[in-house]
Amino acid sequence: MFADWALASLHHLAIFTLAATLAAELALLTIDVDAKAIGRLARIDMAYGLSATAVVIVGIARVIWGAKGYEYYMANHIFWTKMVLFAIVGLLSIAPTLRYLGWRKALRADAAFRPATAEVARMRIYLWAEAAFFLAIPVAAAAMARGYGMAN
Ligand code: HEM
Repeated sequence: MFADWALASLHHLAIFTLAATLAAELALLTIDVDAKAIGRLARIDMAYGLSATAVVIVGIARVIWGAKGYEYYMANHIFWTKMVLFAIVGLLSIAPTLRYLGWRKALRADAAFRPATAEVARMRIYLWAEAAFFLAIPVAAAAMARGYGMAN
């Protein structure tokens, strides 16, 4: 019972941190993306990666050591839907991460560097798509936790 509570708490804390980093990146991409903003984006994206890793590790720990036992989740198709949704969010996050690193590199070569407006707009689309898939995950989680999606 204690492990289940502790892991559930950590899962939620990591998820809220992840959501906050996503929101912060979106906010930074709506203002002028100058050198300061690029530095912040790169650092926030690192926090994004770390919190996503924490969500995965704690999530897997919940599957193994949670109150219901791993067989429950293996047989639940909404759990697998949730995993696919999370994988999509992860895949969508690759392009923005690579862009921020590219911008930082360009900035080192030229202190006056600013990313093109169209490129920033494209990154915003990636982030909004991530947010849309991300929002579907707690809906799936609440369903799977209550027995929806069981094979029989
Ligand atoms: C590899 C990634 C993940 C794994 C393995 C995982 C696994 C789990 C497990 C085992 C539970 C316990 C469900 C129960 O009480 O029976 C859970 C609950 C939950 N998960 Fe995840 N999770 C992952 C990622 C995420 C993400 C990215 C989010 C949010 C965007 C999320 C949101 C939730 C929520 C809100 C609950 C509580 C559901 C409820 O009790 O109503 N999970 N997760």
